[in-house]
Amino acid sequence: MDRKKTVAILISGRGSNMQAIINDSQTDNCPYQVCLVLSNRPDAEGLKFAQASGIATAVVAHQDYPEREQFDRAMQAIIEAHQADLVVLAGFMRILSAEFVQTFNGRMLNIHPSLLPKFKGLHTHQRALQDGETEHGATVHFVSPELDSGAIILQAKVPVLPTDDVDSLSNRVLAQEHIIYPKALRWLAQQRVTLRDNQVYLDGQPKM
Ligand code: GRF
Repeated sequence: MDRKKTVAILISGRGSNMQAIINDSQTDNCPYQVCLVLSNRPDAEGLKFAQASGIATAVVAHQDYPEREQFDRAMQAIIEAHQADLVVLAGFMRILSAEFVQTFNGRMLNIHPSLLPKFKGLHTHQRALQDGETEHGATVHFVSPELDSGAIILQAKVPVLPTDDVDSLSNRVLAQEHIIYPKALRWLAQQRVTLRDNQVYLDGQPKM
């Protein structure tokens, strides 16, 4: 097998997607390994799991940087020092500068808890319920300069039940996130998935 791709995971909180990816990385023949977990918040819950898994962690507190670009450059320096091939946003709650996005173009993924292009931004589950959606889900996409708008790699759909509230619906979606995020990351690490002219290719075929 080729050398494993190295992955930096960026988090701001709980880190359950980060956990799913770390767990996947520790299974036999996984094509990637996690080289760094970076948080913009020192109290991010996910840091503890990463440390307990023996993974290098770093905190770059966004409040310490007056300009977004300076914060992003500080993160970039740490990501590069850990020689990450790929960057994964997993509940990372900061908007990234165009420069940072460009640096990792085609190598940076995000997961969003909706069936994009529906419900970009926050409070996706609440909005899906309010709009009377019968279907909801999650999307893994490449990161592009515009928020939640990059080319889509993989989606998972779940039903919205009449009895659902935000908690029950978000839990159903989250369970799917933990499946599709490692799967999409494997595809990227194996170079089965590529990005060209803002189009995703899977095994050489244009996707979606
Ligand atoms: C997930 O719902 C993810 O889709 C969104 O933020 C949430 C992060 O949860 N981007 P976790 O930190 O991975 O548990």
